[in-house]
Amino acid sequence: MDLAGKTALLTGASRGLGPYIARAFAERGVHLALTARTADALEATAREATEFGVRAIAIPEDVTDPSGRMRLLERAGTLGPIDILINNAGIEWVCQYTNMSVEEIERMVQTNLVAPLMLSRLVLPDMIARGSGHVVMMSSLGGKKGSPYSATYAATKAGLIEWTSGVREELRGTGVSASVICPGFVSQAGMFAEYGKRAPRLAGESTPEQVAVAVLRAVERDLAEITVNPGPKRLMDVANAISPGAVTWILRRFGVYEFYRQQAEDNAR
Ligand SMILES: NC(=O)c1ccc[n+]([C@@H]2O[C@H](COP(=O)([O-])OP(=O)(O)OC[C@H]3O[C@@H](n4cnc5c(N)ncnc54)[C@H](OP(=O)(O)O)[C@@H]3O)[C@@H](O)[C@H]2O)c1
Repeated sequence: MDLAGKTALLTGASRGLGPYIARAFAERGVHLALTARTADALEATAREATEFGVRAIAIPEDVTDPSGRMRLLERAGTLGPIDILINNAGIEWVCQYTNMSVEEIERMVQTNLVAPLMLSRLVLPDMIARGSGHVVMMSSLGGKKGSPYSATYAATKAGLIEWTSGVREELRGTGVSASVICPGFVSQAGMFAEYGKRAPRLAGESTPEQVAVAVLRAVERDLAEITVNPGPKRLMDVANAISPGAVTWILRRFGVYEFYRQQAEDNAR
């Protein structure tokens, strides 16, 4: 897709990776409808985007609220037809599964999985009618192999990967497509950076700019799936398909699971 002059709706635009993605698209001349719950932070992202000469509006809404999603689409539509939907908003907390309340599990599934599916359901018919459009799902390497103390998060992110795989094929020949991005640990900004810890050596870290470039590439080149992660964890995908038990052993042995266990302990304090 040639990006200049297109309109994108980006969720999770108030902090973390969202502002980096907004900047990358604004630099390419994409008009932006930006959403999250925190209005002032959202306005700041919108102001920064307009410095690149594009139109950008901040639309504070909760993506888990069905009527909020309708209002979001209505206001985003004032910029023009939505050419690109980037489902980036997400939440994670690392804790023992049985310590999560029913409400916390429900909130994570609603935010990370149900909201992206519903927003996609709302924008896709118009994209298909216009013969052009792209949906991006922000998943995670966590969606490729569940980690202890992050099982619900992994379930939601795995859901996004499989949704994209299925819908992408369904959309073949329509001019509309879908991509999924799977970052590992991201430094400098976002949910992992907030822990103030280094990632386990085996996993490595990426930058928010690398994630933003991956989203751009996915849309521009219509790529099915992009993993954003340095080092050997990329090879783990292949190894995991052949022998999941062996990969579990490696991750346990090299301290990746211990990282999650410690984080769960810190969060419980
Ligand atoms: N950072 C990483 O290391 C990493 C790695 C792999 C994947 N990811 C994925 O990348 C995406 C962005 O993560 P991040 O690191 O930027 O997280 P973050 O810093 O915690 O930011 C999350 C964003 O989602 C928004 N959000 C959360 N709940 C929402 C709701 N109910 N309604 C509307 N907006 C909501 C937040 O805005 P408000 O609070 O203002 O609503 C915020 O803008 C997530 O999907 C995450 O799973 C991140």
